[in-house]
Amino acid sequence: MPEPLVERAREALDNAYVPYSEYTVGAALKTADGTVYVGCNIENANYSNSLHAEEVAIAEAVKNGHTDFDRLVVTSGARDGVTPCGMCRQTIAEFADEDLDIVCDLGDGETAEYTLGELLPNTISLDTLEAAAEKRERDE
Ligand code: THU
Ligand code: ZN
Repeated sequence: MPEPLVERAREALDNAYVPYSEYTVGAALKTADGTVYVGCNIENANYSNSLHAEEVAIAEAVKNGHTDFDRLVVTSGARDGVTPCGMCRQTIAEFADEDLDIVCDLGDGETAEYTLGELLPNTISLDTLEAAAEKRERDE
């Protein structure tokens, strides 16, 4: 039996709207207090407006007042261990530290586990902008 968070991500696949790629993605995000938010991909005829499963899960969590994340599971109908794309990694990084565990579903009870820092090292963050603002003030 996969961990419950993997099950939640797999359940979200049922609601994926993927008439273009036919590639379903599900995400389950556990917040610091244990609440779980799920998301699926939602495609669009202009392609670029397509929403990614991780984005949808994060939007659900943030809109409900949760910005502390504990664990993220990503799955696809293909059970191919898909990882969050670059855009989603950056979106996750807005709310999570480098040690966030990201679990990717390989099917048959197998997962590949990464930290956010492994998937997205050295990215821009609020800290980067605050440090730059301080430097500007010092240099004035
Ligand atoms: N997709 C996600 O939902 N999350 C990712 O981070 C990777 C890509 C979706 C977008 C599109 O609907 C489909 O997978 C194929 O790229
Ligand atoms: Zn993505």
